[in-house]
Amino acid sequence: MKAVHALGDTPALGQVPARMLAQVIRADRFGEPTKAFQTEEIEVPSELRPDEVLVWVMAAGVNYNNVWASLGSPVDVIKGRQKDTYFPDPHPFHIGGSDASGIVWKVGSAVRSLKVGDEVVIHCGVWSQDDPVVRSGADPMFGPSFRIWGYETNWGSFAQFTRVQAHQCLPKPRQLTWEEAAAYMLVGATAYRMLAAWPPHTVRAGDVVLVWGGAGGLGCQAIQIAREMGGIPVAVISSDDKVEFCRRLGARGCINRKKFSHWGMLPHWKDTQAYGEWLRGARAFGAAIWEIVGERKSPRLVFEHPGEDTVPTSIFVCDTGGMVVICAGTSGYNAVADLRYLWMRQKRFQGSHFANDEQAKALNDLVAAGKVDPCLSETFTFSQIPHVHQLMHENRHPPGNMACLVNAPRPGLRDVPR
Ligand SMILES: NC(=O)c1ccc[n+]([C@@H]2O[C@H](COP(=O)([O-])OP(=O)(O)OC[C@H]3O[C@@H](n4cnc5c(N)ncnc54)[C@H](OP(=O)(O)O)[C@@H]3O)[C@@H](O)[C@H]2O)c1
Repeated sequence: MKAVHALGDTPALGQVPARMLAQVIRADRFGEPTKAFQTEEIEVPSELRPDEVLVWVMAAGVNYNNVWASLGSPVDVIKGRQKDTYFPDPHPFHIGGSDASGIVWKVGSAVRSLKVGDEVVIHCGVWSQDDPVVRSGADPMFGPSFRIWGYETNWGSFAQFTRVQAHQCLPKPRQLTWEEAAAYMLVGATAYRMLAAWPPHTVRAGDVVLVWGGAGGLGCQAIQIAREMGGIPVAVISSDDKVEFCRRLGARGCINRKKFSHWGMLPHWKDTQAYGEWLRGARAFGAAIWEIVGERKSPRLVFEHPGEDTVPTSIFVCDTGGMVVICAGTSGYNAVADLRYLWMRQKRFQGSHFANDEQAKALNDLVAAGKVDPCLSETFTFSQIPHVHQLMHENRHPPGNMACLVNAPRPGLRDVPR
């Protein structure tokens, strides 16, 4: 048996070599993604816990979280996990990657739901069976052991093998290529929980849903899910060349945020001039939504993730009794609200983070049924993993979700190449 296989050279099914190729981040390289990632040869994580499986990665999806991992900010993920209570990992490196399609190559002693050879997509929610919240049967997303695989944990999909918990694996939709199958799960399941899991604020027929970053990874999934639930998605974008992409997914229309300038933290209400300018901008933005919808109907749900730059406007334009649901703070973490709009109009500001098994499955079922498209934008090679994160860091990536081939020898394959 070879100690390490070149990309495209597949070992016999179930045979695990000693070493593998991986895109690795180390603390002394933290910084721009093109500097932080480097290809290295690393040992295969073949010692499995009873509930784990080893997956031969065919393709890996690209997410914003490994831009944060490269930068070493806002947290140093390597240091963080060395003292992790539930998933301690002493290794001085990070193998990222929180989306993948691949083939089950080895199963842990307690795994009954999967067998060697199964073709799977992987969701990124990891938790411990020793977690008191998990043991109680509550949503594991609220448990202290919840981690994002390939960001908060090591051994992600930017390597020939990844080590995951069996419940993370879902059947690969058969109609998808490996790279399409690797592209959607993290953003799609996150968007699904945001729009479908915070009752009574789930999308109802005819609800206007404002989607920030409509052409981004989360946004392209949110537009489609809102459309499938009967809502009227209105997308926000930063250049007009993204309009067609969002409309094809089901957006009623798009607002170019560059036409407005009231972004950033809310001015203090005592500064009447600055506050007045902000209010004019926010009102004009709200009017742009009404113009697209064709009536004075405000968004019952606002799908938020830019954070600091946009939350004041999101809370302002949200309908009376509606909800702003947020899963990130890409532009910053200090979200200032004018509380008058929040309490007088009885709006809800709700945090949301990834998804549990049921929500990931619900999203995967929508994709398998052809109702939600993964929106694969472009397929890259394994060696381009640093480059694609750099594009994302600079907001220069193409609309949709990017994927990189790992062991798949070429794009366009749907099955195991034998
Ligand atoms: N908590 C979770 O479970 C979870 C899951 C997935 C992602 N996230 C986080 O969510 C964020 C977005 O992820 P993504 O995959 O959608 O990234 P993405 O593909 O880069 O899309 C985000 C879009 O947001 C828009 N945007 C960026 N800065 C903005 C600003 N200052 N104001 C308004 N819009 C802005 C951009 O679109 P335009 O320039 O066209 O407006 C961008 O394309 C990241 O921070 C990511 O880490 C969190």
